[in-house]
Amino acid sequence: MSDDLYERAVAIAERAYAPYSRYLVGAAARARDGRIFEGVNVENASYPLGICAERAALARAVTEGCAPGDLEEIAITASPCGGCRQWLHEFKLDRVTFKNADGEIVSRTPAELLPETFEL
Ligand code: THU
Repeated sequence: MSDDLYERAVAIAERAYAPYSRYLVGAAARARDGRIFEGVNVENASYPLGICAERAALARAVTEGCAPGDLEEIAITASPCGGCRQWLHEFKLDRVTFKNADGEIVSRTPAELLPETFEL
Protein backbone atom coordinates (compact mmCIF):
# COMPACT_ATOMS: atom_id res chain seq x y z
CA MET A 1 0.00 0.00 0.00
CA SER A 2 1.34 3.37 -0.89
CA ASP A 3 1.28 6.01 1.83
CA ASP A 4 -0.16 8.54 -0.59
CA LEU A 5 -3.53 6.79 -0.62
CA TYR A 6 -3.83 6.96 3.16
CA GLU A 7 -2.85 10.62 2.99
CA ARG A 8 -5.65 11.20 0.49
CA ALA A 9 -8.09 9.64 2.96
CA VAL A 10 -6.82 11.87 5.76
CA ALA A 11 -7.12 15.01 3.63
CA ILE A 12 -10.65 14.29 2.39
CA ALA A 13 -11.89 13.53 5.93
CA GLU A 14 -12.06 17.28 6.49
CA ARG A 15 -15.09 17.34 4.21
CA ALA A 16 -17.06 14.83 6.26
CA TYR A 17 -20.53 15.87 7.34
CA ALA A 18 -20.60 14.52 10.89
CA PRO A 19 -22.36 17.06 13.12
CA TYR A 20 -23.79 14.37 15.41
CA SER A 21 -20.77 12.19 16.18
CA ARG A 22 -18.11 14.77 15.26
CA TYR A 23 -16.13 11.77 14.08
CA LEU A 24 -14.76 12.75 10.68
CA VAL A 25 -13.82 9.79 8.47
CA GLY A 26 -12.22 9.79 5.03
CA ALA A 27 -11.67 7.01 2.53
CA ALA A 28 -9.79 6.76 -0.77
CA ALA A 29 -10.07 3.79 -3.13
CA ARG A 30 -7.63 3.18 -5.98
CA ALA A 31 -8.85 1.42 -9.11
CA ARG A 32 -6.54 -0.91 -11.04
CA ASP A 33 -6.48 1.68 -13.82
CA GLY A 34 -5.12 4.28 -11.39
CA ARG A 35 -8.24 6.32 -10.74
CA ILE A 36 -8.87 7.33 -7.15
CA PHE A 37 -12.32 7.65 -5.59
CA GLU A 38 -12.72 9.48 -2.32
CA GLY A 39 -15.55 9.41 0.18
CA VAL A 40 -16.50 10.83 3.55
CA ASN A 41 -19.10 9.92 6.14
CA VAL A 42 -22.37 11.80 5.73
CA GLU A 43 -24.62 11.76 8.79
CA ASN A 44 -28.30 12.54 9.17
CA ALA A 45 -30.60 13.69 11.97
CA SER A 46 -32.22 10.29 11.58
CA TYR A 47 -29.05 8.55 12.70
CA PRO A 48 -29.35 5.17 10.91
CA LEU A 49 -29.58 6.96 7.57
CA GLY A 50 -25.97 8.11 7.71
CA ILE A 51 -23.42 6.60 5.35
CA CYS A 52 -19.84 5.61 6.17
CA ALA A 53 -16.88 7.08 4.31
CA GLU A 54 -15.77 3.84 2.67
CA ARG A 55 -19.27 3.08 1.44
CA ALA A 56 -19.46 6.60 -0.01
CA ALA A 57 -16.14 6.02 -1.81
CA LEU A 58 -17.26 2.66 -3.18
CA ALA A 59 -20.59 4.12 -4.35
CA ARG A 60 -18.69 6.87 -6.10
CA ALA A 61 -16.47 4.31 -7.83
CA VAL A 62 -19.53 2.41 -9.04
CA THR A 63 -21.07 5.64 -10.30
CA GLU A 64 -17.92 6.18 -12.36
CA GLY A 65 -18.17 2.71 -13.89
CA CYS A 66 -16.28 0.44 -11.50
CA ALA A 67 -17.49 -3.05 -10.60
CA PRO A 68 -16.29 -5.63 -8.06
CA GLY A 69 -12.71 -6.56 -8.95
CA ASP A 70 -11.88 -3.19 -10.47
CA LEU A 71 -10.57 -1.68 -7.23
CA GLU A 72 -7.13 -2.61 -5.98
CA GLU A 73 -7.07 -1.05 -2.56
CA ILE A 74 -8.78 1.34 -0.18
CA ALA A 75 -7.47 3.45 2.68
CA ILE A 76 -9.75 4.50 5.54
CA THR A 77 -9.00 6.76 8.47
CA ALA A 78 -11.05 4.54 10.80
CA SER A 79 -11.35 0.83 11.38
CA PRO A 80 -14.18 -0.29 9.08
CA CYS A 81 -17.48 -1.09 10.78
CA GLY A 82 -19.12 -4.49 10.41
CA GLY A 83 -21.46 -3.45 7.60
CA CYS A 84 -18.63 -1.86 5.64
CA ARG A 85 -16.63 -5.07 5.93
CA GLN A 86 -19.38 -6.81 3.99
CA TRP A 87 -19.13 -4.07 1.34
CA LEU A 88 -15.34 -4.42 1.19
CA HIS A 89 -15.78 -8.15 0.67
CA GLU A 90 -18.30 -7.56 -2.14
CA PHE A 91 -15.88 -5.35 -4.08
CA LYS A 92 -13.03 -7.90 -3.96
CA LEU A 93 -10.31 -5.44 -3.00
CA ASP A 94 -6.78 -6.80 -2.65
CA ARG A 95 -6.22 -4.93 0.60
CA VAL A 96 -7.74 -2.50 3.04
CA THR A 97 -5.52 -0.06 4.93
CA PHE A 98 -6.83 1.69 8.01
CA LYS A 99 -5.96 3.09 11.40
CA ASN A 100 -6.76 0.46 13.99
CA ALA A 101 -7.85 0.89 17.60
CA ASP A 102 -4.20 1.07 18.70
CA GLY A 103 -3.57 3.94 16.31
CA GLU A 104 -1.47 1.82 13.95
CA ILE A 105 -1.87 1.95 10.17
CA VAL A 106 -2.42 -1.66 9.12
CA SER A 107 -3.28 -3.46 5.88
CA ARG A 108 -5.62 -6.44 5.81
CA THR A 109 -7.46 -8.45 3.18
CA PRO A 110 -11.25 -8.34 3.17
CA ALA A 111 -11.23 -12.03 4.19
CA GLU A 112 -9.12 -11.21 7.24
CA LEU A 113 -11.60 -8.50 8.20
CA LEU A 114 -14.66 -10.67 7.62
CA PRO A 115 -14.14 -14.44 7.57
CA GLU A 116 -16.80 -16.92 6.42
CA THR A 117 -18.71 -14.27 4.53
CA PHE A 118 -22.32 -14.24 3.47
CA GLU A 119 -22.67 -14.90 -0.27
CA LEU A 120 -25.74 -14.71 -2.47
N1 THU B 1 -17.84 5.65 10.26
C1 THU B 1 -17.31 5.54 9.00
O1 THU B 1 -17.43 6.48 8.20
N2 THU B 1 -16.65 4.41 8.67
C2 THU B 1 -16.54 3.33 9.53
O2 THU B 1 -16.28 2.21 9.10
C3 THU B 1 -16.70 3.58 10.95
C4 THU B 1 -17.78 4.58 11.25
C5 THU B 1 -18.59 6.86 10.61
C6 THU B 1 -20.07 6.63 10.68
C7 THU B 1 -20.50 7.76 11.60
O3 THU B 1 -20.76 8.92 10.80
C8 THU B 1 -19.28 8.03 12.46
O4 THU B 1 -18.20 7.35 11.85
C9 THU B 1 -19.43 7.53 13.88
O5 THU B 1 -19.80 6.20 13.91
